[in-house]
Amino acid sequence: RPWGGLAAAGSALALAGCSGRQSALDTAGYEARVVGELFWWMLAASVVIWVLVMALSLYATRRRREPWSGRAAARLILICGAILPTIALAVLLVFGLRLMPVLRAPGEDLRIAVEGQQFWWRVTYELPDGSRVSSANEVRLPRGRRTEFVLTAQDVIHSFWVPPLGGKMDMIPGMTNRLVLEPERTGRFRGACAEFCGASHALMALDVEVMEPDAFEAWLRSRRDPAPPPPGAQEGATLFLANGCGACHTVAGTPAAGRIGPDLTHLSERPSIAAGILPNDVDNIARFIRHTRDIKPGARMPSFAMLSPEDSASIARWLSAPAGTRMETP
Ligand code: CUA
Repeated sequence: RPWGGLAAAGSALALAGCSGRQSALDTAGYEARVVGELFWWMLAASVVIWVLVMALSLYATRRRREPWSGRAAARLILICGAILPTIALAVLLVFGLRLMPVLRAPGEDLRIAVEGQQFWWRVTYELPDGSRVSSANEVRLPRGRRTEFVLTAQDVIHSFWVPPLGGKMDMIPGMTNRLVLEPERTGRFRGACAEFCGASHALMALDVEVMEPDAFEAWLRSRRDPAPPPPGAQEGATLFLANGCGACHTVAGTPAAGRIGPDLTHLSERPSIAAGILPNDVDNIARFIRHTRDIKPGARMPSFAMLSPEDSASIARWLSAPAGTRMETP
């Protein structure tokens, strides 16, 4: 009985890894799907081989007749130890090699540059007309289009991986790697840094939203020509600038134009803050401002513990306001 319960719990836990927005097996993109198929074929082949080996071992241990002649044993070793593995591995190799050109096919005209940093992602949409749209820690993609990711790193090696869509690809300082992904269904997915990059490696996640192509184009257009913020002043904006936040962060329409940290212009639209680790709400933003390095050890941003809870809440409220309604600063 207890063993039955344990086995059930164990298999439930194992199967839980097969679905969800960060699963490589519950696929939402072409590249992930073909690699997923390869995985299932390899798994099936391994199971067949495992069963065969186990059956042969059992047979060998229970065999009570005279031992085989040297010749028969040599033949068995040749067949099971060399010929069968060669055939099995060759079949799997051909299967894998046939995928390579598929996975390396060039992308369409949509290009997204993603730069890994300790411990967040700088995201820049590079449009065919030469214009750029900046974001951070969130990537939006049109369904059914092959999008090219241009991957670089600022400080140490990171790795870009959105398991339901495909990948992964290392981001190496001084190098540019390219990865093409074609999402097949809409939805929200989660990516993660897949290369140990420091104390907060595990806290370097990425939100990915796959949209219908029309909705995506409309969204991108709205990002390209941002509505000018209405005139006026807000306490949060004043505090943000007075505390030097603008030296590292950009908030379009204000004097804040720093390039060191994430662009915070459309923060209100992102599902999470701090690279996918906290739900995006005023309380979490305020807490992150004052306790940055407790929440994210090793982050370059210092904890602004000298700010009062009221002041950090006021900055958080301002950053949470939809960008179009954000007040211009004095
Ligand atoms: Cu970046 Cu691990």
